Amino acid sequence: MKASKIIGVGSYVPDNVFTNFDLEKMMDTSDEWIQQRTGIVERRWVSDDQGTSDLALNASLEAIKSAGIDKNEIDMIVFATLSPDHDFPGSGCFLQAKLDLPEIPAIDLRQQCTGFLYAMSVADKFISSGSHKNVLVVGAEVHSKGLDKTPEGRTVSVLFGDGAGAVIMSACDVEDRTKERCFIDAHLHSDGKFAKELWLPGPGNSFERPVRIDQQMLDEGLHYPQMNGKTVFVHAVKRMAQCLQELCVKHRVSLEDIDLFLFHQANLRINSKVAEVMGIPEEKIFNTIQKYGNTTAATIPLGMNDAVKEGKLKEGMLVASAAFGSGFTWASALYRW
Ligand code: ACO
Repeated sequence: MKASKIIGVGSYVPDNVFTNFDLEKMMDTSDEWIQQRTGIVERRWVSDDQGTSDLALNASLEAIKSAGIDKNEIDMIVFATLSPDHDFPGSGCFLQAKLDLPEIPAIDLRQQCTGFLYAMSVADKFISSGSHKNVLVVGAEVHSKGLDKTPEGRTVSVLFGDGAGAVIMSACDVEDRTKERCFIDAHLHSDGKFAKELWLPGPGNSFERPVRIDQQMLDEGLHYPQMNGKTVFVHAVKRMAQCLQELCVKHRVSLEDIDLFLFHQANLRINSKVAEVMGIPEEKIFNTIQKYGNTTAATIPLGMNDAVKEGKLKEGMLVASAAFGSGFTWASALYRW
């Protein structure tokens, strides 16, 4: 049967490191508060001349190199981001131009922190159908340019970092997806009734106003992300555990069979709670939030590349990912590296 497998991975974070102590100077916060509530120690924020597709380009070039393919063998781009270069066209098109890969389809996905798992699943479906062979799957975010860095924005702004990660997913033939090296499956979910628990209202068309953005909107701070942190926390723990469980049951995989858990990194306490609820040993979870903060759609591929470089992710390992984010959206994925 046709399937897909990850044959290359790459990532990129900007050079500028912002520690919690740097943030103390901008907003009324403290290293102690941030570390205790989130686990974050530092994050990377872009320089003025960097946009989302620039970060994605660097991650993609490393992924292409690590896959050992010629870039012209890529026949599709799937780009997950909540912080695109521009409202339209999608960042996939900007990346495509920078990679000089004209004419292949470039799809943008808007599933926030769950974006990369949705993107891998979409790539897997195209490849498994036989229509495409080598798909570049990218998650990239520039959060820092959209955060309220005044004391009013502190609850959200301390959480987010910029970065990008990419994989090349390539066609393969397998007899048994659960036993061979391939992308085994993903379970995708969303529930839009929680959309306004974590969202960016403006610019937008659903306001009773004649324009998408006006001075009043800026004065009200509607162009900054808004979050009900406690609700997000509770739902994240419940949904990540639930969708991991359903994937394991479906494929008759026990949690002990899984070698490494690459979870989304929204908050270290969320991941510890998921581990506790499910009985997963903490050392099997690869966390990166301490050094990158929450990089949304870039988080999981960033983690993959770091895990490979640190020797924690090796060929043949069974890996499970789970993510939760704005939408609400949540997903799990199972793959053999
Ligand atoms: N520094 C210092 N104090 C702060 C800060 C800050 N950065 N932010 C808030 N506080 C204060 C509050 O004002 C409040 O003070 P008060 O008690 O005097 O009123 C106190 O700290 C507690 O605030 P809470 O909001 O109740 O803090 P909580 O314990 O809920 O932690 C947090 C907040 C860390 C955001 C937590 O709710 C959380 O992690 N939620 C999940 C968030 C998340 O995962 N977001 C990303 C989702 S992924 C995506 O799709 C983008």
